[in-house]
Amino acid sequence: MEKWIAPGRVNIIGEHTDYNDGFVLPIALPLGVVCAAGPRGDGLVRLTSAQRPGEVVEVGIDTLAAQRDRLPGWARYPLGVVDEFVRGGHRVTGVDLELDGTVPIGAGLSSSAALCCAVTIALRDLFAPALTDRRMIEIARSAENGFAGVPTGLLDQSASILCTEGHALFLDIRAFADTESVAAEQIPFDLATAGLALIVADTGHPHDLADGGYAERRAQCEAAAAALNLSALRDATSEDLPRLRDRVLRRRARHVVTENARVLAVVDRLRAGADPRAIGELLTASHDSLREDFEVSAPALDLAVDAALDAGAHGARMVGGGFGGSIIALVEHVDRVAENIMHRFATTGFAPPRVFAVEPAAGARKLE
Ligand code: GLA
Repeated sequence: MEKWIAPGRVNIIGEHTDYNDGFVLPIALPLGVVCAAGPRGDGLVRLTSAQRPGEVVEVGIDTLAAQRDRLPGWARYPLGVVDEFVRGGHRVTGVDLELDGTVPIGAGLSSSAALCCAVTIALRDLFAPALTDRRMIEIARSAENGFAGVPTGLLDQSASILCTEGHALFLDIRAFADTESVAAEQIPFDLATAGLALIVADTGHPHDLADGGYAERRAQCEAAAAALNLSALRDATSEDLPRLRDRVLRRRARHVVTENARVLAVVDRLRAGADPRAIGELLTASHDSLREDFEVSAPALDLAVDAALDAGAHGARMVGGGFGGSIIALVEHVDRVAENIMHRFATTGFAPPRVFAVEPAAGARKLE
């Protein structure tokens, strides 16, 4: 069978801005989901995963929607993608799918988007070769939102499909939604030349987007936009904030307004070829805002950020939806920072985190 790969992501900055029509700046990780796929002619999907040894899910393509509720949770992501192809009018005659992933699950590194995007690009090549990148992103997102029932924005799938090696992807989500083309800019992100590295610390405290906190934040953002008579918080400014009577909504909106400004400031600095150390303070400010105003951080995330900064990191922040998962830190001395995070976790009685350095990797592609 032929093979395709789609990566997980970390967002350099721009958290909880995507569903507010705002700005994001992710990189793809050198961790991903590999999908081996081969066409069948009998109308069946046969699905296996190296992470689920011994489990085989076999289901008729015509009955996918009807069978959804009795399918195991993990299988709803890839099968949701097959269902999206069928709904989009693409003729899928049957397919074998064998999955194998290296993105840790529940770490806020988009294992589910990597999974959906790997299956999407495989099905594109096998059954719908004219499909655009943009349409692939929409299919992967719809599978996750609909069939799998997880209310994500567009950040993760865009990163997995569009990122390129050595670059961060600057995406204006509104421009993306409004136009047929993909409004994306590849921003060179070369830390090594500046003597820097980006580390990820997976705290091991899982986050779960299907839990209520993420949906509640989305609803609060919509309520804040409605109270300001705006279609999305993307259009709010700091002058608007005092008009929000509800203090919780005001804090949520303040995060979105300041976070969008921080993304633009980071992009300006990187575009101007500034020393990447200059973005560190903005990363830390993003974390403070996610902790104080958006209230999506967690003790393990705060501890990892503090430990990284205490050990000399130029900036550090939680990434992804929050409530658990991972942080990133911009560092000169990988070992020193990693050791301090490990040490602080041990003395706090938390299980050891997984700390590793990452470089911007390539987006979804066929493996030769
Ligand atoms: C999760 C969602 C994304 C985005 C982030 C927060 O990763 O899947 O769409 O909203 O949270 O930035």
